[in-house]
Amino acid sequence: MTHIFHAPQAIHTGAGCRGLLPECAASLGLRRVLIVTDAFLTRTGTIGPFVESLEKQGIATEVFDRVQPDPTDANVADGVAAYRQANADGLVAIGGGSPIDAAKVIAVSLTNPGPLEQFQGYHRVAQAGPPVIVIPTTAGTGSEATKAAVITDTTRHVKMMMLDAKLMPRIALVDYELSLSMPPALTAHVGVDTLTHGLEAYVSRKANALTDPLAVSCIALTARHLRTAWSEPGDREARAAMAVAALQGGMAFTNSGLCLVHGMSRPLGAIFHLAHGLSNAVLLPTVTRYSLPGAPARYAEVARIMGLANAAHSDEAAGVALVQGLRQLNQDLAVPTLAECLGHQLGHQRDAFWPHLRKMASDALASGSPANNPRVPTEDEIVALYEEAYLGGSPN
Ligand SMILES: NC(=O)c1ccc[n+]([C@@H]2O[C@H](COP(=O)([O-])OP(=O)(O)OC[C@H]3O[C@@H](n4cnc5c(N)ncnc54)[C@H](O)[C@@H]3O)[C@@H](O)[C@H]2O)c1
Ligand SMILES: [Fe+2]
Repeated sequence: MTHIFHAPQAIHTGAGCRGLLPECAASLGLRRVLIVTDAFLTRTGTIGPFVESLEKQGIATEVFDRVQPDPTDANVADGVAAYRQANADGLVAIGGGSPIDAAKVIAVSLTNPGPLEQFQGYHRVAQAGPPVIVIPTTAGTGSEATKAAVITDTTRHVKMMMLDAKLMPRIALVDYELSLSMPPALTAHVGVDTLTHGLEAYVSRKANALTDPLAVSCIALTARHLRTAWSEPGDREARAAMAVAALQGGMAFTNSGLCLVHGMSRPLGAIFHLAHGLSNAVLLPTVTRYSLPGAPARYAEVARIMGLANAAHSDEAAGVALVQGLRQLNQDLAVPTLAECLGHQLGHQRDAFWPHLRKMASDALASGSPANNPRVPTEDEIVALYEEAYLGGSPN
């Protein structure tokens, strides 16, 4: 089997690297850019300094800040209109995964007219769009270094997963200082998303020699630093480590594939509007328990990297310790359970969840991610896993 590795053409890391934005835009020949972000980040003053520094360099700048968390088809359409209105020649995404994904899809919508549905799935983007520079503010989705974007189809209630090398940003500026303002709950959700990227990249059927070291480092850094980033938001060492972990997780999974956790979490997000990281976190222990027999040595290695087992443990014992460790991590980070998350929406009626499961399982399979999982489930098994996660996870 052969493998290909995609990444942005340049990645800057480290405190203060966001200051290189004007230089990076100029290096791509950009004269008029559209900043794609969300209203929270403009309101709290994150965006202003970027506009000033670009204009000082002679690069005209407009701001489109109407991207909502878990961006929709309508957000992309509005962004396309804003880009045309600004007569821009490139995009700068500043924010979490939502503005970054929106900017990627705004870019390719400019060169490929037609409904967004055309991009759903693998390698469906015909023409590259204008260049996209990305500056993540969460740590995170890793979207700054992935060829993926997720946009909600508001008519079909589906989170459309788009995967194509033409979605890869040109330049990423990964400056952990922007993540210092994240509150604990957001830190927890995006941090467990990062861990899930590392873990799924490592156990994926498409894992390979270039993705493994990135996935291992992502898992190790997250295990060591996420709790501190959560409990002490101003801890620079922990924030710096998590920013690198998120970047490495993105670089790994985009070249080896995501698996069952992400396949099952997208329908939860699409139907119940759970934040992306949260919907992964509530599924991670249960899906890991189910998947262990597909790659016992790999899961055992993850347990050892996380310090949950050592060389003396059998692979089987390490796998059990991993599932327990993932449950403990959720508890330590005060991540609510799936039943708690859905309780408010379903009026705490347990039976109200069940009617959705068939469509959710079918959408999960259709995304393609479950096919990368070490143990590939049937639709019935996915239904059972949603039930198990909802009921609190079965003991090993
Ligand atoms: N393309 C990919 O490779 C990929 C991978 C994983 C997830 N995603 C997508 O990313 C999206 C989720 O992104 P996300 O989890 O980064 O969150 P987000 O971008 O949706 O942001 C969540 C909230 O956090 C706020 N926020 C952002 N930065 C902040 C900061 N520094 N301090 C305080 N608040 C801040 C935002 O304003 C927003 O209200 C989902 O749509 C998901 O599907 C994409
Ligand atoms: Fe993710």
